[in-house]
Amino acid sequence: MNGLDAFAAAKLRQLEQNALRRDLAECERSGQGGLTRGGKQLISFSCNDYLGLSTHPAIIEAAVAATERYGVGAGASRLVTGNHPLYPILEARLARMKGTAACAVFGSGYLANIGVIPAIVGAGDEIFADELSHSCIWAGAQLSAAKLSVFRHNDVDDLAQRLAASAARHRLVITETVFSMDGDCAPIQAIRQICDQSGAWLMTDDAHGLGVLPAQKADLQMGTLSKAVGGYGGYVCASADVIALVRNRARSFVYTTGLPPGTVAAAIAALDFIAANPQYTEKAMENARFFTNALDLPEAQSTIVPVIIGAADAALRASARLAEDGFLVAAIRPPTVPAGTARLRFTFSATHDKASITRLAESVRAALWAPA
Ligand SMILES: Cc1ncc(COP(=O)(O)O)c(C=O)c1O
Repeated sequence: MNGLDAFAAAKLRQLEQNALRRDLAECERSGQGGLTRGGKQLISFSCNDYLGLSTHPAIIEAAVAATERYGVGAGASRLVTGNHPLYPILEARLARMKGTAACAVFGSGYLANIGVIPAIVGAGDEIFADELSHSCIWAGAQLSAAKLSVFRHNDVDDLAQRLAASAARHRLVITETVFSMDGDCAPIQAIRQICDQSGAWLMTDDAHGLGVLPAQKADLQMGTLSKAVGGYGGYVCASADVIALVRNRARSFVYTTGLPPGTVAAAIAALDFIAANPQYTEKAMENARFFTNALDLPEAQSTIVPVIIGAADAALRASARLAEDGFLVAAIRPPTVPAGTARLRFTFSATHDKASITRLAESVRAALWAPA
């Protein structure tokens, strides 16, 4: 074994010992929440496809038509020749939804965060991020070289104190609107007020909010097209000048190939669908609340409902137990969530039916809360 292989093997052993090793499993999704994994038919409560649009015939048709017309790839970065005619349509749609003058679409939400943050702040500036922020927010903050101040989760007073104590040239506050692993919502209005009072800029990550909850104003509204929108891509909406600056300075915008035309067409069709069919959003939220009511959990604030287990190996066992009953609910372990808070993360979609959710709740009750 050469040195690199030995290094990798030792690291993997360590992950295994701590029940933190992850491996890919082939999943064939069939729409309506159905999925086959390892030959077993399961109902997934782990997809972020909250409205079921990734398999919707009208969205697929839009992607196929655009692929036939423009080809499978963009051919170059957007600033060279990759800015096909569907891009301005998608960016105008997103800006309109968010109430901003402009929008920049990126290759993914991850690429948006690691590009936008360093395009806006740098050395001499300070970023204030909620402690439960997504991995790509931390990555963007690190790439920016700005000082990083981490405020307690959704704690507006802690944020206010940190802002007041900062002498940085520019101060950028970042929070998620809906927290990806906790499903709770940030107090955006209160945070915006503090930002306005102290002259700080506010950036929100609405990855799990778009298509599920109403948009809330911020200086920079970032998000993804991979969850409720059902496809792939990321975006940031802001004023015309801010977006022009992002298009000039964000390295993950400038130095990467544009999205395939079919992907952009799918996003446009999905946004049109969401606007014309509010009952899908209502149904997804109703399903999440139906689950929390069935288990006497605090009422769902979004389509994400966590059940904290604690130890990583216990979360894996709980997930395996639910799979025996026909449900796919992924165990989320550190470093995705803080140590000691491994959990089952349930996500609900407009395509789930009440009968499956009732059976899921019974299975959870038996697996996690049955008397010993
Ligand atoms: C809060 C949050 N931000 C950003 C991302 C990244 O989005 P994408 O999957 O489009 O890269 C995700 C998705 O994993 C997320 O949950």
